[in-house]
Amino acid sequence: MTSEIRKTVGYDDLRGYLKLLEDQGMLKRVSTEVDWDEEIGGIAYRSLVKDGPGLWFENVKDYPGMPFVANVMYREDQLGVALNGDPNWESLRDIIQDGMQNRLKSTEVPTGPVKDVKILGEDVDLDIFPTPKWHELDGGRYISTTAGFVTRDPKNGNLNMGQYRSMILDKNTTTVEIMGNWEVGADAPLGSGYGGIGDRNGAAHILDNEKNGLPTPCAIVLGMDPLLTLSAGTAIPADENGYMEYEAAGAWAGRPVDLVKCETNDLMVPANAEIILEGEVVPFERVNDGPHGESTGFYNQCPLSFMVKITAITHRSNPVSFGLTCGRIEDYPRPLMRSNTLLNTLVSKSGYTNIKEVFFPDAGRSGFLIIRAQITAVEQPKQIIDAAYEHMRYRWVIVVDEDCDVRDWNDVLWRIVSSVTPEDHMWIGAEYPEAIPFPGTVEFIPPTHGMGIDATFGFKKYNHPLPPIAKPSMDLMARVASRWKEYGLS
Ligand SMILES: Cc1cc2nc3c(=O)[nH]c(=O)nc-3n(C[C@H](O)[C@H](O)[C@H](O)COP(=O)(O)O)c2cc1C
Repeated sequence: MTSEIRKTVGYDDLRGYLKLLEDQGMLKRVSTEVDWDEEIGGIAYRSLVKDGPGLWFENVKDYPGMPFVANVMYREDQLGVALNGDPNWESLRDIIQDGMQNRLKSTEVPTGPVKDVKILGEDVDLDIFPTPKWHELDGGRYISTTAGFVTRDPKNGNLNMGQYRSMILDKNTTTVEIMGNWEVGADAPLGSGYGGIGDRNGAAHILDNEKNGLPTPCAIVLGMDPLLTLSAGTAIPADENGYMEYEAAGAWAGRPVDLVKCETNDLMVPANAEIILEGEVVPFERVNDGPHGESTGFYNQCPLSFMVKITAITHRSNPVSFGLTCGRIEDYPRPLMRSNTLLNTLVSKSGYTNIKEVFFPDAGRSGFLIIRAQITAVEQPKQIIDAAYEHMRYRWVIVVDEDCDVRDWNDVLWRIVSSVTPEDHMWIGAEYPEAIPFPGTVEFIPPTHGMGIDATFGFKKYNHPLPPIAKPSMDLMARVASRWKEYGLS
């Protein structure tokens, strides 16, 4: 697929997207009063587990007239609306891949809806928004759980937007927790170098400025449209034109992203966002962030987080707040967003072009990959497992045949129980040195080894003929998936 055939999405901003979801029954309003203190987090989690609709909380305790929205971008039907594509994995994955490669230049505009209200200097008070305390053991209220943290690279002037969480410390101070232990004087991260994990460019910008004694101007963009939100949480390094997350989101949308300049610094931010927190990262300061319930499935706390002083808030009239409950499952399709980069990384590094898909399941944050491959020789599954250990830092690796639906646990488990003889087809994984957490840090440290499992069928030895697999082919599945709407099915 190429960018020429991208169809422009049917919305201009988060509100427009929410309206489309609501019109199609994918978003429900909750008018009962709900508490920002744990209750919103509990409802959002329960509804996610039940594969429920998006939630629009109209009546948040202590915040009359300030709605809060969650769970609006994890189901395939919602993502089909967000990306204006067929609501199936393959179609969405192709659109994502296409936008990453064919970015669309953003447009600078003099002003936009996010400038409806401007609050500057001493008047800044983060408590005006209905920010949840998401999890029971969280150390505070997280204003940024699904937002964009924008900074400029002091070396080349390129902008970057990453999703890094922020906890409110007081009326005009937040944390920004960028993965890593960034002691004062630490070297900037050099980039992850392996698929999909992200480079933590924000940390690099902050540490580079700090080396020169400088603060880092920043903007925390809240309530972005879903495509900007997807781009913020995904590794999209600036290309040779300086095109970054904004331009990938524009390409996915089929129309440029409108950008306006901040009031108190020269950063450019999305004009149609709901809320912008402008500020600067204070050099040589570190603050505690957390604990916070994280996507590893554990709480995590970082005493060496960066500190942000908020210098201005701009927001739309009647702003809609948007956040996500983070955890083993969350309102963000990490598997979808990472699958292309993981595949590209493994194929380019190993040279194994028979690898068709590298899947990272929701619960796999501590290191799990399922690799779908066209197997033509008996030694290939083990070679692929070895390549995965050599080139990617994942501990559990399962290789399955090309016809497996890697997102269907039942399919994957069926292959394991049907094809694996443990002594022949399972190997203790490569060893990863146990990371020692920095003092004061609360962090889940996974075991040092995982396991490699060859769950393919074709070239193993059997004492009897292997019958045909009784499952529709992937071709047939793709064909009917592409006509799903035509059948009137959702
Ligand atoms: C929902 C969600 C929450 C995330 N939270 C954090 C976070 O708090 N800190 C962090 O370092 N990375 C976090 N990440 C990962 C980064 O956003 C991701 O690695 C991204 O690529 C970083 O941007 P960068 O590559 O421009 O640095 C999160 C990702 C998602 C999808």
